[in-house]
Amino acid sequence: MEQIHPDITDVLLNEDDIKEIVLCMGNQITADYEGKNPLIVAVLRGAFMFTADLMRAIQTDCGVDFMAVSSYGDGAKSSGVVRIIKDLDTKIEGRDVIIAEDILDSGLTLSYLIKALSARHPKSIEIAAFLEKDIKGKRPAVTPRYVGAHVPDAFVVGYGLDFAECYRNLPYIGVLKPEVYS
Ligand code: XMP
Ligand code: MG
Repeated sequence: MEQIHPDITDVLLNEDDIKEIVLCMGNQITADYEGKNPLIVAVLRGAFMFTADLMRAIQTDCGVDFMAVSSYGDGAKSSGVVRIIKDLDTKIEGRDVIIAEDILDSGLTLSYLIKALSARHPKSIEIAAFLEKDIKGKRPAVTPRYVGAHVPDAFVVGYGLDFAECYRNLPYIGVLKPEVYS
């Protein structure tokens, strides 16, 4: 049995669950983008692991580029201010773009990104979110075309997701003990 990190209360998705989810998302994208060569835009840092796995599950030509944004800093609550820390190197005008994001929480990050990237006139822009948090209340109009799994309104880490740059290496998605961040 694999050791679970002592700061984790529950494992929501284990490695097998993750594999199955990502394969399913890859198959959907393959079917939808046959012959289109979409650009996968990975939102760093949280989505790096998901993006690497998703790319390998997509069986049609696609490219990848990276953006880094920050809405959380080192905290566990969205600050409401999204900053672009690293921009794309690729021109996206006329290109089909798929934003690969680790988790849709308040929706602030993705609604900001959609606005910023739409202004560059891509042919299309869609979201592939590995996780969607089931939050109470409304979020901005962000509708991911692809969602891997829903998670409860708790702070989750692992598989690329961090708290204060920790836990990204955990191979599963787990709920972080509240006493770690409160
Ligand atoms: P928003 O609130 O803008 O959040 O939709 C998106 C970004 O915030 C981070 N985030 C989390 N990171 N566990 C994490 O490790 C979480 O439960 C969580 N909720 C939001 C994440 O970087 C995401 O891109
Ligand atoms: Mg983060």
